[in-house]
Amino acid sequence: MKKIIIAIDGFSSCGKSTMAKALARNVGYLYFDSGAMYRAVTLFCMRNGLITNGNIDVEALRARMNEIHITFKADPVSGNSITMLNNEDVEHDIRSLEVSKMVSQVATLDFVRSEMIEQQREMGKSKGIVMDGRDIGTTVFPNAEMKVFVTASAEVRAQRRYDELTARGDQPNYNEILENVQQRDHIDQTREISPLKKADDALLLDNSNMTREEQMNWLIEMFNKLTKEC
Ligand code: DC
Repeated sequence: MKKIIIAIDGFSSCGKSTMAKALARNVGYLYFDSGAMYRAVTLFCMRNGLITNGNIDVEALRARMNEIHITFKADPVSGNSITMLNNEDVEHDIRSLEVSKMVSQVATLDFVRSEMIEQQREMGKSKGIVMDGRDIGTTVFPNAEMKVFVTASAEVRAQRRYDELTARGDQPNYNEILENVQQRDHIDQTREISPLKKADDALLLDNSNMTREEQMNWLIEMFNKLTKEC
């Protein structure tokens, strides 16, 4: 069967990554988390003193972009994708609330985006991938054969993020998370370059009241329909 590109975009904490990962496993495709790449750049900034009091030293980051190498490795036990920053496993560190608070700002920078987009296109060269993010169906792969735009209410998303952070041993504050979700929505939707928006030809998926199983059945049905057509 001909391989396609599956682009999954949508708001933060919609469960996009979990969904994209499970879909990739189901259809035998590779999974790429584009948000993890922006998070890794943010972590690099934090570790190298390029962020002070919430402000990014843009020129210093521009000068050091060539020191940032992001790759993905499969976890030998779970098979899940691990984000590597300069050959170091940073999968845990890039998910902290500190990184979440800064990442949208880093992702507005044109030179960061163009570098990430180039790498993302390279990952899709042979097709057979599922990539999730904000601009995958609009900018990175505008010709992707399957595009899904995921949404859920801000409260549902904040609760999911709260549960996720609690499960990994953090002690999060729900209101702080809700505020972060709303702030990121605003920055992601209003930024000048590649703002978060549904591609005209994307399928809309509101998963506020859907179980993971219902969601997967819906995705597989769409995938089967689209791969039959192409
Ligand atoms: O999906 P995520 O929450 O891990 O993404 C982190 C941030 O990166 C998010 O606030 C917006 C940004 N992002 C982006 O601008 N473009 C993408 N393709 C993916 C993520």
